[in-house]
Amino acid sequence: MFYSDDILDQVCSANDIVDVIGQDVPLKRSGSSYVGLCPFHNEKTPSFSVSRQKQMYYCFGCHRGGNVITYIEEYNNMGFLEAVKYLADRAGIRLPEQEVSEEEKRARNERAQLLEVNRLAGTYYYYLLRTPAGKNGLDYLTKRGLSEETMKAFALGYAPKTPSDGLYRYLKSKGISDDLLRRSGLMNLDEKRAVMYDKFWNRVMFPILDTSNRIIGFGGRVMGDAKPKYLNSPETRLFDKSRNLYALNLARKTREDYLVLCEGYMDVISMHQAGFTNTVASLGTALTPGHCALLSRYTKNVVLSYDSDQAGVSAAMRAIPMLRRAGITPKILRLDPYKDPDELISSAGRDEMAARLKKAQNALLFEIEITRRDYDLNDPDSKTRFYEQAAERIAALETEMERQNYIDAVCREYMVDRKQFQELVTRRLVAGPAPRGRGELPAGRARQTEDPATGMEYDPAALYGYDDSGYYEDEETGEMFQAPPSASRKNRSATIKEQGEDTSRKLLLHYICRYPGIFQTVKQYVQPQDFGGGLTGRTAEIIYDQMEKTGKVEESWVLSHFTEPQDQSQVAGIFHTLDQASSGKEREKAVRETLIKVFTAADTGNVSDFNQVIQRRKQEAELRSLQILL
Ligand code: GTP
Ligand code: MN
Repeated sequence: MFYSDDILDQVCSANDIVDVIGQDVPLKRSGSSYVGLCPFHNEKTPSFSVSRQKQMYYCFGCHRGGNVITYIEEYNNMGFLEAVKYLADRAGIRLPEQEVSEEEKRARNERAQLLEVNRLAGTYYYYLLRTPAGKNGLDYLTKRGLSEETMKAFALGYAPKTPSDGLYRYLKSKGISDDLLRRSGLMNLDEKRAVMYDKFWNRVMFPILDTSNRIIGFGGRVMGDAKPKYLNSPETRLFDKSRNLYALNLARKTREDYLVLCEGYMDVISMHQAGFTNTVASLGTALTPGHCALLSRYTKNVVLSYDSDQAGVSAAMRAIPMLRRAGITPKILRLDPYKDPDELISSAGRDEMAARLKKAQNALLFEIEITRRDYDLNDPDSKTRFYEQAAERIAALETEMERQNYIDAVCREYMVDRKQFQELVTRRLVAGPAPRGRGELPAGRARQTEDPATGMEYDPAALYGYDDSGYYEDEETGEMFQAPPSASRKNRSATIKEQGEDTSRKLLLHYICRYPGIFQTVKQYVQPQDFGGGLTGRTAEIIYDQMEKTGKVEESWVLSHFTEPQDQSQVAGIFHTLDQASSGKEREKAVRETLIKVFTAADTGNVSDFNQVIQRRKQEAELRSLQILL
């Protein structure tokens, strides 16, 4: 799809650059041009200049510049074609029709329709929060310290307990078809009675907006301790959890030169209310390379502000290298003794948060600190290995200055002799980076480790799971792929292993659907996130959700969450798997074996936490003698 130069000229000349930029940035005349505070970096004195004569902008501070199209691309984070279209619309110019395939037309149409459904639903929830029916919700949000203004800024709403089909009826009254409603992710389908009812009820509602401020999905929180605490819209043609960040539509306007990344909706909202409007969160999923790429379009500096519990620490340890690969320098904000940013702000106040943000520590020291827990510093061998491991991380830094600064910091923190530690780093530098593959342990560390509690040997690497993003890393280039790379021989065994894991996961889902009675047992050991990323993980989420709510699984309801034909047929495969067991006994054994496989392949988070490791080993032992009755 290309536009001719004529058209582009026409679009540019109809959009005067001073007017366009003037909408976002206050500009002052200065000689032959206009100046203002640069929207692309944080500054106190204006170095951003716009020339009407040349129809160009340039920042003397961050050296970004271009014409009106470039500006729209950069400021609104749009692609070229999107920016041209935006400017054409702004000037009322009709662009020549582009050739689009039928498939593309259908997809666009579907997206537009889903957006409209979401917009209506958002209005419905928003309105209800402010009626007597929404009192519970309003009380809850107020009790959590949110002001009227904040609730408005985040367009918070309420899905009442009754009637159970209030939204359904509202949307029908707006002429929305059942077919569209089924695909909206806002309805549950009661197959037997062939009726739909609202997916969200008795929850406060958090609309999820994309960067163009359109509602692409919802999160809903219970007001008490019921489970699940949060319910999120399933992925639709609009809603791709791995490529959207909560509140990025607001945070991208920040003048700070960094973004804060936290885990929860409430954390983001508290942070914004406290004035830290540069905060975003991933949407109830682990951080993916897609999120990192998105972040890196806005900033190269991210402060991770994950929960201070074990899960948060493990998530941070996984997020750090992923952010680095996207060219981002991660820092870590320490929350302890508070659980999450929301709690810190409400207990200690915004000034404390501001102070901690200022003190946010480079992720490298955090990583070294967390790995330290793997080593016993009272044992000379173990201590040496820890120093080697720290030296290796420091040797991987780009510049000598950085290395020196971190050598200083580590020596201070762990009371190592500077000269000796320097020598370790130098030796590492000379040797070059140690090859390190996915799931492998840091160099210099024995694979077999003794469990201090049981005295048994185990292989910690075997406990490393795969991240649940559905992405795979090429060991040679460090690049991320969405599908398992098959070219490299080194990768082949990993790929086969992953395929095996996926088969077990699908089989387990099959058993849950077929023998709903086992669900209560299964879920004690395996959670939806243990089914890996991608299709199987998403299917698990849906199946768990439906089991929780209705105690059984309807194939068509699960399928209705997927719009792509190839996804549908894969998911359908889960329901129609043939198992080879010939007798009941054999089948019970098969179920148990499958459960064990999925359990052991699951991501166990931080293997350095021995308590967790031991806990999982206990569970595994339990599983091996588990009685499964079908
Ligand atoms: P509050 O308890 O309201 O303060 O929530 P929080 O934001 O602190 O939540 P928490 O740290 O427990 O979880 C972080 C994020 O994970 C949430 O904001 C949700 O996006 C997601 N999440 C939490 N619980 C669930 C759940 O039960 N189901 C799903 N799908 N997502 C959840
Ligand atoms: Mn919280």
